[in-house]
Amino acid sequence: MSRPTAPDIVGASCLSHDAALAVVRDDEIVYAAHSERFSRQKMDRYLCDGLLDDVEAHVRIPFEIAYYENQNLKRSRELFAGQYRRLLTTPGARSYLARFPLLRGRPVASHGHHFSHACGGYFTSTFRDASIVVIDGIGEWDTLTAWRASDRTIERVLTVRYPHSIGLFYSGFTDRCGFRPNEEEYIMMGLAAFGDDRYVDHIFDDFIADPRPDRLRFRRNLHRGIRDWRTDLTDIENIAASCQSVTERLLREVFQWVRTELPSKNLVYSGGVALNCVFNGMLAREGWFDNIWIMPEPGDAGSSLGAALAQRGEWVQWRGPYLGHDIGRGLNIDGALRSLVKGKVIGVAHGRAEFGPRALGNRSLLSDPRGPGAKEKVNRIKKRELFRPFAPIILEEHAPEYFEMPLQRVPYMQFVAKCRKPEAIPAVCHVDGTSRVQTLNAAQNASVHQLLNAFYQQTRCPLLLNTSLNIKGEPLVNSAEDARRFSELHGIEIF
Ligand SMILES: [Fe+2]
Repeated sequence: MSRPTAPDIVGASCLSHDAALAVVRDDEIVYAAHSERFSRQKMDRYLCDGLLDDVEAHVRIPFEIAYYENQNLKRSRELFAGQYRRLLTTPGARSYLARFPLLRGRPVASHGHHFSHACGGYFTSTFRDASIVVIDGIGEWDTLTAWRASDRTIERVLTVRYPHSIGLFYSGFTDRCGFRPNEEEYIMMGLAAFGDDRYVDHIFDDFIADPRPDRLRFRRNLHRGIRDWRTDLTDIENIAASCQSVTERLLREVFQWVRTELPSKNLVYSGGVALNCVFNGMLAREGWFDNIWIMPEPGDAGSSLGAALAQRGEWVQWRGPYLGHDIGRGLNIDGALRSLVKGKVIGVAHGRAEFGPRALGNRSLLSDPRGPGAKEKVNRIKKRELFRPFAPIILEEHAPEYFEMPLQRVPYMQFVAKCRKPEAIPAVCHVDGTSRVQTLNAAQNASVHQLLNAFYQQTRCPLLLNTSLNIKGEPLVNSAEDARRFSELHGIEIF
């Protein structure tokens, strides 16, 4: 039996948005989960007792704590930005962590915000050498960084600093379109497909002073919001499409720069902007890199794991995103199959919860994606805007029949692909003819694979509609109690 060679590391990301904790033991990720799943407060910035209880059940004492950013640097930026209220009301990370008995008295090390993102991506990848790109709203002062990584050494080669930020640009437009910034960017991305990018040059001229990544400059501080921009325009679908186009233009510049300036063709991409799966699909199709790795949680919550890996400075075995709360039961495959074949929308809640924003089969709503009414039916249950599409989960070997796959395997719903049979599966095909595909094989998730395979054997349809087991605005179902409540409230059977 192998013995641990070092103390466990608890990585912590909190006090900003979407707090999370991760536990790393040697080369294993023992645990990782979002606070919101326990506190039931969407995007909860604070840790909570339920999460700490779960961590306590997984961690070996004594352990060390790795915090995901340098708070002094961040405070200097907040001072510069005039975020006085935030400065005065946010507690110090060390004293905050010490409020929790489990964490009290443990050594705490802090790692740079973008360095934590970079390490989270690199040390969960299988690459020895890599080009790392981190793009987010703001981390301390950094908004975009590129790194050259080889044999555990990570060297920074490019820095764009606040207030110039592609992430803030996107969040500013999310706000301008009436959605919640730092949270509902994905809704704006979905809305963009309904519009055309008629304002692309206009936005470019108004906001971008220099698009080159090594000189990236915006004309205004987007952190202050852009609600005053062209208040006469109300066609938010065209504004969203134009913002998405400008963002794609800027991101293309970044990755072309990385491709020509850095030696490795293994790309690690992290930071909240890496959740833009429309651009990711484009990037994969370009073929600029031989391999692309985006951790399933590339945002700040993922930096709980990133900080732990920054501290460890070594790779871990990536075994999948099912790292959170264990609900204590397996999937009732026969029951789920019977209901799916009858055309019912069902819930599944089994095993360990996904770490990251996507439900990948352990806390999901599933249904047959065929037929005209499936999308509306699920949207009504979820109380979401009726225009919003759902994602398909498909047996990996069948994916090329249904989609123009940008990569052979897309297990975490991070890349958009053109749908080849939109009329056959309208519920999982967006208005622009694309889908955010999740491919599935047995090694990823044996029980869901068995269910999907059995569904295919009975129906000859190798895919299901897969969306998160929650109602709009609520965190995903986490515990058995959450699942029971969801089932009772919404009349959905959960297996
Ligand atoms: Fe970040």
